[in-house]
Amino acid sequence: MMSVGVLVSGNGSNLQALLDASAAGTLDARVAVVISNVAGVPALERARLAHVPSRVIPHGDFGRREDFDAAVVAVLREHGVDLVVLAGFMRVVTPVLLQGYASRVINVHPSLLPAFPGLDAQAQALAYGVCVSGCTVHLVDAGMDTGPILAQVPVPVYPTDTTDSLRARILAQEHIILPTVVSWFAADRVTVNGRRVRVSP
Ligand code: GRF
Repeated sequence: MMSVGVLVSGNGSNLQALLDASAAGTLDARVAVVISNVAGVPALERARLAHVPSRVIPHGDFGRREDFDAAVVAVLREHGVDLVVLAGFMRVVTPVLLQGYASRVINVHPSLLPAFPGLDAQAQALAYGVCVSGCTVHLVDAGMDTGPILAQVPVPVYPTDTTDSLRARILAQEHIILPTVVSWFAADRVTVNGRRVRVSP
């Protein structure tokens, strides 16, 4: 069974979606390890409750991003991880991770990329005044939310929305597409050719 390593920095509701899908048997993959760059976050408690090993690797302990990533890769290898999921992981990753797991690092982002990359995508969407936003699961490359797109779901934006109401509506869809995309990798259905991604039936 495919082993997934999940990198987190905060709440971990997307981690929870993966844990739940794995436990329910709708995702034929297991979360082998959870790595957080921040101590004491709810995501770590979610891992503990699911009996999944976790590790805190404080980024402040490392002078260079590359050294932090090397420590992350070592823990991922230690747990036999095949696919790396960034789920609310608030760090830019370096080639150390991307070459260690070539075309095997994915991220979930709360907008329809390439619109609104980076921080506070929901606030960016509201400030721009779009009527539709959504979420994206993409392969990670060296840029900020720029990698090849694997899946997207549109979500309506209402005039009465606040960042919190929009965040919640988008998150509900993230919790569906992230386990779905991971299941594609588990079934070996994803082929990557440059920016082009093919998902076989
Ligand atoms: C999600 O909106 C995700 O798209 C973004 O960070 C948030 C993480 O939420 N990258 P959670 O920690 O999974 O609840």
